[in-house]
Amino acid sequence: MENQVRPWKGNLGKMIQFSKKNWALMHDSSLIYLTAKAKGRKLVEGEHEFINMVSCDYLGISSLAVVNNEIRRILDEDMPVNLSVSSVRIQSSLLKDVESRFENLYDIKCLISLSASEASSALLPLLASGYFHDFDKPVMVFDKQAHFSLKYIAPICMNETLTLEIDKDNMQALEIICRENENVVYVTDSVYSLGGESAIDAIIELQKKYNLYVVFDEAHSTSIYGDHGEGLIRPKYKEFPKETFIISSFNKAFGAAGGAIFMSKEYNKHEIKTLAGPLGWSQCISNPVLAAIKGALTVHESGYVRELQAELRKKLQLFDEKIKTKQSGSLAPIRIIPTKSLEDTKNKAKFLFENGYYLAPVYFPIVPKDTYGMRVMLRADLQIQEIDKLILLLGEIND
Ligand SMILES: Cc1ncc(COP(=O)(O)O)c(C=O)c1O
Repeated sequence: MENQVRPWKGNLGKMIQFSKKNWALMHDSSLIYLTAKAKGRKLVEGEHEFINMVSCDYLGISSLAVVNNEIRRILDEDMPVNLSVSSVRIQSSLLKDVESRFENLYDIKCLISLSASEASSALLPLLASGYFHDFDKPVMVFDKQAHFSLKYIAPICMNETLTLEIDKDNMQALEIICRENENVVYVTDSVYSLGGESAIDAIIELQKKYNLYVVFDEAHSTSIYGDHGEGLIRPKYKEFPKETFIISSFNKAFGAAGGAIFMSKEYNKHEIKTLAGPLGWSQCISNPVLAAIKGALTVHESGYVRELQAELRKKLQLFDEKIKTKQSGSLAPIRIIPTKSLEDTKNKAKFLFENGYYLAPVYFPIVPKDTYGMRVMLRADLQIQEIDKLILLLGEIND
């Protein structure tokens, strides 16, 4: 049990020390910090055209006319970029409209944020403070594989309460913590940024037995799952419980920008926003971004998102038939092509880029030390010929 449950111990210094040379090599090889301009569906860097194979716009929603038209409408109405005041004081009417539309669509409460990371940096310290537990501070437990943006907040939680880390899917360890402590909060992703899902059903089973609160980061599952893109977690509950929170990003499959906290209708969201630090500071989500969210929301409300999901699944199937990865068969669109070393990763990513495809090289700290690969994300709006050509190129470098 001792190694399975560890007190949170960050070591940003070591992480930076070990990762610096990896980033430097990729920078020297022009595989990061590319400067590109959109040209139709492609990007151009100088004269070189390429396809961005790591765009999180998995359903292609951000380039739909409905999104662009909403943005244009805001410009035509001469709306300022934002009201330049904390939205706790004065909020844009667009913000209120957008939150209400989410609340109706998903039968839940919604607080819009600038990003998923802003949402988690607001919510996690508030949970650690005991606000949701009558100030009887809970034990905070982080999934080791949870996204960096969640774990980044662990030191703030540790300042408030006992903060632990367990390995991904270690439900036995989580159950022991729940048995020994009255209040527990578990922080995890529903779909990991490197592909794969957490043990969602087992976590929910533990919620039925113990007073377990869970924060699910749905950045990679919002829009990809559910008849209206509600993600993996919302459909698990009929009435959304006070013990569960969803963090979402609208910068990925949703097709806009920004993020949100989704929570039980029992909560006073305005009080939460007032108390939750970053959400109430002066910078609020801008009107053009709210307009983009409005446009993308229409796609979700109308159910057109289902057609886009089906198209994405077709493209995933096409890819998985030819390229086997650990993530093959998953409906989440992230695949990792393993490579042998940093040098091998660089050479292969360079070859693909020169042939018109940008895949993201991954290495520590994106993946564990001494692990390497290239991340590829499939999208509904990729053309079949584009995927076929990528498959051929991947075949050429397969060894
Ligand atoms: C799982 C996960 N959570 C959160 C984030 C951060 O999202 P945002 O860019 O909206 O802060 C990302 C992506 O960067 C992610 O992959």
